Amino acid sequence: MKKMRLDKFLATYTTLSRKEAKRSIRQGEIQVDGETVLEGEKKISPCQHICMRGQRIEAKEHIYIMMNKSAGVLSATRDKNDTTVVECVECGGHELFPVGRLDKDTEGFLLLTDDGKLAHRLLSPAYHVPKTYYFTYEGELVENAAELVAEGIDIGGGVRTKAGILRLLETGTAELTIEEGKYHQVKRMIAALGGRVTYLKRISMAGLALDDNLRPGEYRELTEDELAVLTESANRS
Ligand code: URA
Repeated sequence: MKKMRLDKFLATYTTLSRKEAKRSIRQGEIQVDGETVLEGEKKISPCQHICMRGQRIEAKEHIYIMMNKSAGVLSATRDKNDTTVVECVECGGHELFPVGRLDKDTEGFLLLTDDGKLAHRLLSPAYHVPKTYYFTYEGELVENAAELVAEGIDIGGGVRTKAGILRLLETGTAELTIEEGKYHQVKRMIAALGGRVTYLKRISMAGLALDDNLRPGEYRELTEDELAVLTESANRS
């Protein structure tokens, strides 16, 4: 790895901004190979042992964030009118983007990363990555709704879905697992079955469940075990 300024290293591999990184260095909070360094411009190698208040900072190539997206926020990097999920995350110098999209009014599990290769695989239909949605709906679904979903259904515009799994829960609530991500897919599938989705939340993706402790709008980095599950899903075609 190439040498870089200490303040840039901190801004890249922690959630500190460049300004906060400089302040932390001036306050003597940073040690490089056991020695406190007070100059932000000092060049270090990311492989050195760098600690902030006693905690090692690892130079990770990529960052992976689990967000519980709240309704009203756009799944995009930038937008002229609306707040985007990327604007809601503090992550130093990483250029994050959302892996796929949830509608503006949909809540739940959204993965944000700067790892284009993994994102591509998770989104590619060839890799069959399952996504499960919990939803509430109005209206009566046709009696054989679960069988129809298992066979694939016509959702209009010449689109036929691949096999999915529909689990009916208490009246007006259900879960749907699909391996695709067509435009408004869940809402269109439920409409084709006679209902209207009134609330939609993604509760799992690629074998990872949304962390119950994350309230809408909150996020955290994936643990190493979670990342291993995700990578495994993305390598299975
Ligand atoms: N299907 C939808 O209809 N909307 C979403 O946000 C995700 C899946």
